[in-house]
Amino acid sequence: MHPLFARPGESDSIPILFVTASSFEKVIEAVDDRERAFVKAAGFEPKAGRHLVVPAPDGRLAGVLFGLEPADEPVRDPFRPGALSTLLPAGTYRFANSPYDTRLAALAFALNAYQFARYRKGEPRKARLVLPEGLDGEELTLIVEGVSLCRDLVNTPANDMGPEELEDAARTLANRHDAAVRVVLGEALEREFPLIHAVGAGSQRAPRLIDLAWGKPSDPKITLIGKGVCFDTGGLDIKPEGAMLNMKKDMGGAATALGLAHMIMARGLKVRLRVLIPAVDNAISSTSFRPRDIYKSRKGLTVEIGNTDAEGRLLLADALALADEDKPDLIVDFATLTGAARVALGADLPPFFTDDDALAAELMECARTEFDPLWRLPLWRPYDAMLESKVADLNNVASGGQAGAIIAALFLRRFVTTSRWVHLDIFAWTPTTRPGRPEGAECQAARAIYAWLAARHV
Ligand code: BES
Ligand code: MN
Ligand code: ZN
Repeated sequence: MHPLFARPGESDSIPILFVTASSFEKVIEAVDDRERAFVKAAGFEPKAGRHLVVPAPDGRLAGVLFGLEPADEPVRDPFRPGALSTLLPAGTYRFANSPYDTRLAALAFALNAYQFARYRKGEPRKARLVLPEGLDGEELTLIVEGVSLCRDLVNTPANDMGPEELEDAARTLANRHDAAVRVVLGEALEREFPLIHAVGAGSQRAPRLIDLAWGKPSDPKITLIGKGVCFDTGGLDIKPEGAMLNMKKDMGGAATALGLAHMIMARGLKVRLRVLIPAVDNAISSTSFRPRDIYKSRKGLTVEIGNTDAEGRLLLADALALADEDKPDLIVDFATLTGAARVALGADLPPFFTDDDALAAELMECARTEFDPLWRLPLWRPYDAMLESKVADLNNVASGGQAGAIIAALFLRRFVTTSRWVHLDIFAWTPTTRPGRPEGAECQAARAIYAWLAARHV
């Protein structure tokens, strides 16, 4: 189990009392006189996110008060109690009464404690939580592991996370779960996946397609695809410095697919899992692909390059074509695909696209119950015409620059025939720390998709 989770009875625990503006008076009426006096003297106010450590007469900890939003507050953060894992002193704690959602609170407690400690020592994490009654600690643990794997891969800078290192990460995960990995490189890549090869051609670090397979062939086929651009300079259509600064995270889709794959395999879900990762460096050199180049994609459609910075959709096009060939029951792709998705919905709310209305509704529900927010945007067919090219079957960008996230999704759609396909345009980053979501890499949408799968394929 996760090192911060303790089993009930494993050790004495310190109670955490959740209070709201309206429950506060009643809650502290029930505590010891001295403790109540301390709470008053300390001037504790039962506001959301406030906490107070209350001493016992012998100087040890008697308990902790933690403020939550009032019950009638329309926007409540179910991850808020998670903040306690970095606020509390060393010790083992338990929830003495219920936060809004005990499972999400416990999950957030562990997610909140994450640190990226590859290049310097982390802070000690010594506040532990007794797993609340009825929760599956093993399942929470594998979810936290998947999220942490994803965060580590995204946080790792591009000098240590190129296409080869991404392949290593996939192989390490595969070994752990007895999965098979096939990698297509070099001339075979150029022949079979011309768009992936073209995008990666400018870098010394060879582009590749990573193809991981796991599970019983007779089980429902689930194929995950993750955009693996290890660094996105924009290519010859170079990004300005501000836009390039954080482009180590452009393999966030790949990291998310691997994090989710860990959850699926560790849980032993009854699926035939396939994970496809086109891994490249979008670099600048004399061998880079160029604006107005035309390539014949795996599917056979010819694509004119309108902009080398719209590289993610090119990778996904060839990967989606491959995924579609063996008619899986579901294809899910994750990609840090467009700045436009951020303009529309911001860093925390990734849009998803699918033609399957029932699936969309189910995903929205999973996103809500997992507090892994998603929002549906349309595959708005009338905009399809904007992808027309005068010389090829289609262009990789539209003129005009409006509805960028939809245009990118419509581009992808040309390479898929099944309607059991979901495309997620993720950000993979938390700009400023919030409970359960430390600043830096974030694993978006994987928990929601895992919940959807786990409810159907146990
Ligand atoms: N990786 C970027 C998209 C991106 C930028 C995601 C910032 C998250 C944050 C992608 O490869 C890209 O550059 N997209 C272009 C597309 C444009 C050239 C049509 C964009 O969004 O500007
Ligand atoms: Mn780009
Ligand atoms: Zn990119």
